[in-house]
Amino acid sequence: MSVQKTVFGRLPDGRQADLITLSNGRIEAQISNYGGIIYQLCVPDKAGKKANLILGHDGLEGYLVKGDYHGALIGRYANRIAKGRFTIDGKDYQITQNEGETALHGGVTGLNQKLWDIVELKDGEEPSLTLACFSPDGEEGFPGNLRVQVVYTVTANDGLRIEYFAQSDKKTPINLTNHAYFNLKGDPAQDILDNLLCIHADAYTPIDADSIPTGELAPVQGTPMDFTSPKPIGRDICADFAQLKKPMGYDHNYVLNASKEELPCIAEVQDPQSGRRMRVYTDQPGVQLYTANFLDGSEMGKNGVPLQQHHALCLETQNFPDSVHQPGFPDPFYGPGRDYHYTTIYQFDIG
Ligand code: BGC
Repeated sequence: MSVQKTVFGRLPDGRQADLITLSNGRIEAQISNYGGIIYQLCVPDKAGKKANLILGHDGLEGYLVKGDYHGALIGRYANRIAKGRFTIDGKDYQITQNEGETALHGGVTGLNQKLWDIVELKDGEEPSLTLACFSPDGEEGFPGNLRVQVVYTVTANDGLRIEYFAQSDKKTPINLTNHAYFNLKGDPAQDILDNLLCIHADAYTPIDADSIPTGELAPVQGTPMDFTSPKPIGRDICADFAQLKKPMGYDHNYVLNASKEELPCIAEVQDPQSGRRMRVYTDQPGVQLYTANFLDGSEMGKNGVPLQQHHALCLETQNFPDSVHQPGFPDPFYGPGRDYHYTTIYQFDIG
């Protein structure tokens, strides 16, 4: 059980970013207060050999250029808002558009580019780090002064728990997540297409040509989208199925099955080679399965290994994308009288 803080690097304006290591003696998470990024997550394989499972860059510099949100906390609104526009109580808001006309992952400057305050570091059986950041009214076009806190904890049973809290003084959409790219092999030079994935979701939200949900909740049964029982990620990824063509793989929100449990297990990934298994628990209604489709080897990853397509998967727990426009999706608006809070755990063992 230990907590350590070291210097990660300096931002162009001279401010120092830190790197915090949380360890329970078996698994070890390294998190920076720059963007709240998970820099490394070292987990043993079936032979007890530890490796880092998170794709990303070497040092702070790689995270400063506009990248693929590696390991970062995403907000104010994870995933897409069509045309970057929405209306609240008759008033129109325009969010900065950073993907054609779309606002992706909070606009041009999201919470992933903020230097968060380190509020608390706690040692003990479950070492934790509490980060906080402030987003002023109007930032990126969003209404309301937003205060966000995220607590990262390495749990006693080998989980990385992420708890999200936010309050706004005006009604505003909130959708926070973490964008870790997991490679359970612990080898970024290998793809993850043989990983067995199961997602407890009977439906998903199909997308249009701009990757915006159409509003439909489509059944996965009988389609390549079906992960209701464990299936190698690569089995159907190249299927002749329109939804998989433009995104070049899975890049879809799954509608998680209702559960009576407070924090249900919503997905499970197993890597046959290393034996590592990751279970995901969350109380959010959706999860974005993204199979790192747009990594094309042009960005350099850790230890000089280029970041390649399908060499990782993201399971981003969230509200459904573009929920600001879809009355049939869970309500994404928070503010006075409705604070935001949820929990996700990525838990590891040998399957
Ligand atoms: C999105 C992808 C996007 C990626 C950016 C994912 O959450 O669904 O479409 O390319 O983030 O890294």
